[in-house]
Amino acid sequence: MAPGLPTDEQEPQVLPFHQALPRLLRDPVTELAKMGTDAGGRIVRLHIGPFRPYLVSHPDHVQQVLKTDWSTFVREGMFWRPLRRVTGQSILGEGAGWESSRKVLQPLFTARYTASLGEDLADIIAGRVAELDEHARTGRPIDAGHQMTAIVNESVIKVLFGGRIPRDVAERLLPEFATCATSIGFRLLFPFVPYSVRVPGDRAFLAATKKIDEIVHPLIERALKEGTDTNEVVSALLRARIRETGTADLRQVRDDLVSVYGAASETTAVSLTWLWSVLHDYPDVYAKLREEIGQVVGDGPVRPAHVARLRYLRMVLQEVVRLYPPGWIIPRQAVADTEIGGVRIKAGSQVLVSPYTTHRLAEFWDRPLAFDPERWAPEQTERRHRYASIPFGAGPHVCLGRHLFFLKAPLVIANLLSRYQLTLANPQRLTPVPGASVRPKEKLMLNLLPIERSRQA
Ligand code: HEM
Repeated sequence: MAPGLPTDEQEPQVLPFHQALPRLLRDPVTELAKMGTDAGGRIVRLHIGPFRPYLVSHPDHVQQVLKTDWSTFVREGMFWRPLRRVTGQSILGEGAGWESSRKVLQPLFTARYTASLGEDLADIIAGRVAELDEHARTGRPIDAGHQMTAIVNESVIKVLFGGRIPRDVAERLLPEFATCATSIGFRLLFPFVPYSVRVPGDRAFLAATKKIDEIVHPLIERALKEGTDTNEVVSALLRARIRETGTADLRQVRDDLVSVYGAASETTAVSLTWLWSVLHDYPDVYAKLREEIGQVVGDGPVRPAHVARLRYLRMVLQEVVRLYPPGWIIPRQAVADTEIGGVRIKAGSQVLVSPYTTHRLAEFWDRPLAFDPERWAPEQTERRHRYASIPFGAGPHVCLGRHLFFLKAPLVIANLLSRYQLTLANPQRLTPVPGASVRPKEKLMLNLLPIERSRQA
């Protein structure tokens, strides 16, 4: 305790520049999590650059920042600036703009509404997975990251645009978003570097953003011309903006569409990519998963009604987003002088809530680095601090797409596992790299063996 402070006032743990920087340059995601776990959930002040953010990981502190005191900790500041260059003023913003977008979008992502999309999504995903038969026939491995993104992309496009986008156009969006998501990494780690200075990734990021606009703007204009009385997201956004202002604010519609697309596709695809590495390391989990899918789905096609009965699969997914939460940091800026857990926080300070760290705190998770789906059995979750698990954030900004995730992701996995035996072609230790979400740095290649052949073998 520092002298002269009130008795309940605490000092954060401080990581000086010469210690923090080399670690963050070497392996940013792992090292940031270690800084938090080594401090046992105490607040850590990171002396990097001129702004010295606070790393917040204790569930009590997470609850305060994201929920109870959410209006003091807003989505502004230098960590959001890099992202806003592509998302603009949208559902991923703050204040009146965010509120109005949330009001329009929320009804389109409720559990019930999401379930109503199930039949269509099941068909789309089954069709896209079946296209991998050629790889199974020829023995050519697939690039897991690329294929998971492509499968997820088709289902997200369906939710956002209905049947309005030809497939080749939808596929042109894919690499541009992937470039944005990865090339933003340097700016997120070192957000204090002025924009007048070019940093690695800048050029690719700006070029990809321009291409996204070139694809998305004509799609919005086409939807406007064709009529907005259908139910997909683009129509709902156009209707709402026309109702509010009398004209369609195309820029605002573009910002929300691009934000939702980014939030929905990158996160889901990245979780599905990590999954294959985990299943390689835990063959017993793979076997149990395969058995459940066999029992529930049988030989027939995967339908949305199966999803609720695939309980172990849900637990596996919960465990994947615990160990590899795609939203690895949730940045906030304090708008007033305040305190978190006794640590004084000045207005303007940057606060980094870190699911990646919170999910590794030994104080809340038994053997935190082990992949153990059983920790999601109901009796175990009931005993846990509610804010120890925050893959989808919490409070008023909690993820809109979590129901969609728990529909899409099981459909993808059940389709893959009931069709093929999947094995990793290049097992290796993976390094998480920071970007808009946290991806493995290494490419993961998967061998597919048709399930009938694998049974005979
Ligand atoms: C594994 C999958 C996903 C993860 C881990 C994830 C994670 C998150 C997190 C951590 C936040 C909170 C951001 C903050 O508080 O600043 C968030 C917000 C959001 N997510 Fe997701 N997400 C996922 C899938 C999806 C999907 C499928 C959608 C599709 C619509 C989606 C749409 C959104 C939106 C629109 C927000 C902003 C909500 C608001 O601020 O009002 N997400 N997500």
